[in-house]
Amino acid sequence: MKHIVLGISGGIAAYKSAELLRLLMKQGHSVQVVMTEAACHFISPTTLQALSGRPVYLDQWDERTPNNMAHINLGREADAIVVAPASADFIAKLAHGLADDLLSTLCLARNCPLMIAPAMNREMWQNKATARNIAQLESDGVAILGPDSGSQACGETGMGRMLEPLQLAEHIASAFQPKLFTGKKFLVTAGPTYEAIDPVRGITNQSSGKMGYAIAKAAQESGAEVVLVSGPVSLATPVNVRRIDVMSAEEMRDAVMREVAGCDVFISVAAVADYRVANRSAQKIKKGSPVLTLELVANPDILAEVAALEHPPYCVGFAAESENLAEYAEQKRRAKKLPLLVGNIAQDAIGQDENELVLFDDQGSYPLRRADKLTLARQLLQHIALRHIGARK
Ligand code: C5P
Repeated sequence: MKHIVLGISGGIAAYKSAELLRLLMKQGHSVQVVMTEAACHFISPTTLQALSGRPVYLDQWDERTPNNMAHINLGREADAIVVAPASADFIAKLAHGLADDLLSTLCLARNCPLMIAPAMNREMWQNKATARNIAQLESDGVAILGPDSGSQACGETGMGRMLEPLQLAEHIASAFQPKLFTGKKFLVTAGPTYEAIDPVRGITNQSSGKMGYAIAKAAQESGAEVVLVSGPVSLATPVNVRRIDVMSAEEMRDAVMREVAGCDVFISVAAVADYRVANRSAQKIKKGSPVLTLELVANPDILAEVAALEHPPYCVGFAAESENLAEYAEQKRRAKKLPLLVGNIAQDAIGQDENELVLFDDQGSYPLRRADKLTLARQLLQHIALRHIGARK
């Protein structure tokens, strides 16, 4: 777990910093709060002291620091500094390397990553001076989290709202993930496929795409370049992931085959329909006949095709079974010649936010305890990195 300096500058969004503090502590981090003088007009240091269990630092002449070097000491203990909210004024200071209070001095003297969550009125955000300052900070390697657009405390609507505490906590958790796959390319399939019967009807399944999207996100935050080939789902694309939308298994196959060259790891999470309609109707089928027969033909097995390439990427399959998980999963792994297959019980997994997985590889089986899908995705990637990619180096 990490030690974070949470810097709070002056803005109405400062009231949300208390919630962010609680979320960071819930993730297991220790948090030292440092506030600017302006921040104290919006939220009391007492609140943040009580929540963090540590005295809050406000100025560089704090007598509690024996060597009078709070700006150095606090930063050296930190794994990251997060400034939320970061006001337009504070951003301008950072961009110019000014150091006229404890928080700005701490940021200038840091030797750890700095993340800032801008929060300001939309006109202030759009101002060329702010845009210049943000561009400068980005090129200096500062992570800019947000802002979002929406209603503002001043009554206006537009860009400049601070991201919600939960979103900020997620960004911070992502930044802390080990960079296991820097320079690697991942290809992930996710979601169901949709096999058209006629222009308005089709055959699909209940896959939500959540597991595949969590894996794409986890791969991206571990440093990989990620392409996500997705069937029809209603999920937001993970940040910095390139998403290709498809409908049918054949479209998914074509997209995968286009993208697979140069790819290091292929994780096939999609619930691909095993069959498609052979005699798809060009027009909407009219009701009337008491019996309607659909002829189904087998779809290509995308994973098996990729695994059979001359130089396949490291292939990971998923198997959702309703019973006999170990037996069926191991059979499937051998049939498709996969180094790793991830098994889950279908009725416990599909559409749920949580799951329970068992990883099957040449060396045995490894259960991953019930957890949210992003946690499981991170554990799966650690397994891939340590047991397989690492071993091949
Ligand atoms: O054989 P089964 O469908 O149970 O295998 C599941 C695994 O194979 C999953 O990883 C799934 O994404 C992949 N698959 C595929 N193409 C198919 C069917 C399944 O890539 N047509």
